[in-house]
Amino acid sequence: MAKLLRDALKGALKPEQVRAVETGIDIIGDIAIVKLAEPVKDQGTLVGNAILAGMKNVKAVFDQEGGLEGDFRLRRLRFLVGENRTLTTHRENGLRFMVDVEKCYFSPRLSTERLRIADMVGEGEKVLNMFAGVGPYSITVAKRSNGEVWSCELNETAFNLHVENNRLNKVVSAMHMYNEDARRLPELLETRFDRVLMPHPSQSNRFLPEALELAKPGGWIHYYRHHSGADATEAKAALDDELVQILGESGDYTSRRVREIGPHYVELVADIRVRR
Ligand SMILES: C[S@@+](CC[C@H](N)C(=O)[O-])C[C@H]1O[C@@H](n2cnc3c(N)ncnc32)[C@H](O)[C@@H]1O
Repeated sequence: MAKLLRDALKGALKPEQVRAVETGIDIIGDIAIVKLAEPVKDQGTLVGNAILAGMKNVKAVFDQEGGLEGDFRLRRLRFLVGENRTLTTHRENGLRFMVDVEKCYFSPRLSTERLRIADMVGEGEKVLNMFAGVGPYSITVAKRSNGEVWSCELNETAFNLHVENNRLNKVVSAMHMYNEDARRLPELLETRFDRVLMPHPSQSNRFLPEALELAKPGGWIHYYRHHSGADATEAKAALDDELVQILGESGDYTSRRVREIGPHYVELVADIRVRR
């Protein structure tokens, strides 16, 4: 975060309020998204102008009202200052992603996790992403692995931007694109996969049977989930309980914390090896 931004906010806000704005801010391309809580909720213009003054690459500032909503995990945004548009191009790991920050899900906080997954993919692997969004996991995998990627996304706006992003990053020939409900993939696809990605942490549990059907014996499923707990150990225990129920004897796994998403609330991933 630019020092200029902190200095600009310092004049108007209390130190703990400056910290809250700083930690909650997401920069996607040239758009800044803040989450203004009481008592700074009504100071949006002041906060927005400080961000525009402090961060020269930012051209628009929005306030996110509430959490991510619905199956498509969308933000409800209130325009604060700058250019009133929600389409931008985000740069990550040497790649470019067009994102509509209001009509599609995208988080800039997962860039390291995307690299972790891409670096695990072996030469010539067939990879399926059941919940692809605008394509950040799928395109990172295609670019770094030489493998083929099957990418599924139900939100038509996100899907169309994913198609654009394939062109932008020159991975069109490595991609098989499906604007479908992931539930239908076992009936639509004859291919079985070395690796299945499930980056839909609020709902992946509802789709694990389909993922198990789509993965080859001995293949991998990367299963993302949100769980609460006083610490990461407690959250992992909740994930273990869930996987006892829905994975049973079908695979073995190790799990890790991906990131904190709120007080006592974390995103976890289980890397599941499907039993032969
Ligand atoms: C948490 S987002 C992750 C998107 C992307 N992987 C990323 O990291 O930016 C989950 C995605 O799954 C999509 N989705 C939700 N339900 C779906 C379904 N039944 N079939 C396919 N995609 C779905 C949403 O529209 C959203 O783009």
